[in-house]
Amino acid sequence: MLGLQVETNPKWVAAASSHVARVLVDHAHCEMKAATNALSLSARCMLHPKVARALVDLAEEELRHFRRVLDELDRRGIALEPPEEDWYAAELRRRVAGERRGKQTLDLDAVLVDRLLVGALIEARSCERFRLLADALGEVEPELAAFYRELFADEARHHRTFFDLAVDVAGDASMARDRLARIASIEADVVRALDARPTMHG
Ligand SMILES: [Fe+2]
Ligand SMILES: [Fe+2]
Repeated sequence: MLGLQVETNPKWVAAASSHVARVLVDHAHCEMKAATNALSLSARCMLHPKVARALVDLAEEELRHFRRVLDELDRRGIALEPPEEDWYAAELRRRVAGERRGKQTLDLDAVLVDRLLVGALIEARSCERFRLLADALGEVEPELAAFYRELFADEARHHRTFFDLAVDVAGDASMARDRLARIASIEADVVRALDARPTMHG
């Protein structure tokens, strides 16, 4: 699905759907991080103004998602606690950057392409997990399931946007596709190492 090479462990679905409050708090932080990541990437795109503008649009949409998750927390009387460590995203970025350093490339566009493709894969994983959560919550929490189904569609579109922006910067679709497949295999290794905690990327 969306370039992912491994499916989420079913144990995660069981853990997440039985700890909805913890998942919602973590989800709020994920949306905020998605907004700040898109904004900080846009500031690195001065040579690619179209890409910078698209990332600002994306950041605005992620902020709207953040606000909606905050509303859901308020409705349920759940406090927004401090964020838990997102080992998945940090480890994925670390491994991709490590591989690039191994190749000793200082090409700033190559760095940007990698960061956009990492973004595409994080969106794809969120998308997969929103669908799994929506399916698991369908009977017990129909409104929350509908919310996750709606976000599933948004994150699928964001996956595509990040990939298209990477193609724009790389100027070569087949190169971007090959690099996406390579980063997807790194992402699959990171996902295999997860221990099914009830967080969005647990
Ligand atoms: Fe989002
Ligand atoms: Fe997103």
